[in-house]
Amino acid sequence: MDTFIIQGGVPLNGEVAISGAKNAVLPILAATLLTSEPCVIRRVPDLSDVHFMGKILQSLGADFTFEDGTVKVHAKRVKTRGDYDLIRKMRGSICILGPLLGRKGKATVSMPGGCVIGTRPIDLHLKGLRSLSAEVKVREGYVQVAAKRLQGNEVFLGGRVGPTVLGTANTMMAAVLAEGVTVIESAACEPEVVDLAHFLISMGAKIQGAGSPRIVVTGVEKLHGAEHEVIPDRIEAATYAIAAAATNGEVTLTNMRCDHLAAVLDKLKEAGVRFEARGSSLKILSGGEIQAVDVSTQPYTGFPTDVQAQLMALMLKASGLSIITERIFESRFMHANELARLGADIAIEGPSAIVRGGADLSGAEVMASDLRASAALVIAGLMCKGRTQVNRIYHLDRGYEVMDKKLRSLGARVKRSKEK
Ligand code: UD1
Repeated sequence: MDTFIIQGGVPLNGEVAISGAKNAVLPILAATLLTSEPCVIRRVPDLSDVHFMGKILQSLGADFTFEDGTVKVHAKRVKTRGDYDLIRKMRGSICILGPLLGRKGKATVSMPGGCVIGTRPIDLHLKGLRSLSAEVKVREGYVQVAAKRLQGNEVFLGGRVGPTVLGTANTMMAAVLAEGVTVIESAACEPEVVDLAHFLISMGAKIQGAGSPRIVVTGVEKLHGAEHEVIPDRIEAATYAIAAAATNGEVTLTNMRCDHLAAVLDKLKEAGVRFEARGSSLKILSGGEIQAVDVSTQPYTGFPTDVQAQLMALMLKASGLSIITERIFESRFMHANELARLGADIAIEGPSAIVRGGADLSGAEVMASDLRASAALVIAGLMCKGRTQVNRIYHLDRGYEVMDKKLRSLGARVKRSKEK
């Protein structure tokens, strides 16, 4: 297994280009199953999750190639049963359910497992598909969905903690080929849902309201092939912005969308981070004195759960107490214990982490537990005096394109090596 060796204490400096969004590209790749014609997706990040989704599409009978950031998929014919071992390994693969049901009228997909950040139910995905008159069964570890002809309907997709991103995606992808009009109330408003809607519209789908809590889909008979460029990864951008601030560096992020980061930038401003935000570029300036801030994660446009861990790392250098409350996933504080190995003072009280900033941090061996927790450990390692070894960075490779190279280009002393 690969590991990152970080010699901390060096301010990041320079320019870094943001890659295409992982969370946009996964459902978009699934959506290519909706047509028998070829699709071309550009600005695809080279991530293990993307290669994995490619394998899933291939296992369903599609041609899939990935070269220089461009994916070509041709799902001339598709099977309706997903491979158990492939699908259960990646949560994002659940979004093949909607497209297969839409195109073929049936699908059998293994139930995705839970993961370290908490239970990950799919009841809302199934509610969405049921509302389109699909029959849904869970048998022997598989979800089976089938419908003679999907029928448009009204469905409320708000759950215990609000909307569901991939549940909205799945319902939207099935509804595009249903008969009649589907109204999704309490839909997820995330930019990745909007990007998926744009791709579906370029395939001939009729969708209004994506980006708002009410999405209206008017079913069409057939979709055709299309080309699409994926939006920039707002979570990757937030991660580099926080890494720059955490090391008191000066970094310009390019090829990004500042408007997708409003909640994060607002919080960074409150924390005393100085920056210039100009459309597709963001310059983090050095010299800001980091202040403790309180934050609660929320669905978009609120502060993203996917940036909670990274903000916690930044709060380690703030003076005072900061309260970080996780409202989306119940066990998403795995990084707190690992940060403690570096000297962090963090107490967990129910859904909140109380961070007493200003502790003296020093490098140590830590273990990544999930994708964003790993990013927090890397940021903390960059802040620490001495050597930090972050183990199990295959989690990072799922969601950050060439992170070690990007960090080195900013002057960080980060080396990838084999875990001993
Ligand atoms: C997506 C993102 C993930 C991000 C999350 C929240 C991808 C590939 N992943 O995950 O990075 O952290 O959005 O922004 O895009 N829930 C239910 N029932 C369901 C579905 C979800 O109760 O059927 C709950 C979840 O347990 C969670 C909340 O709803 O508490 C939000 O989850 P959801 O938006 O569905 O997350 P994902 O789409 O899986």
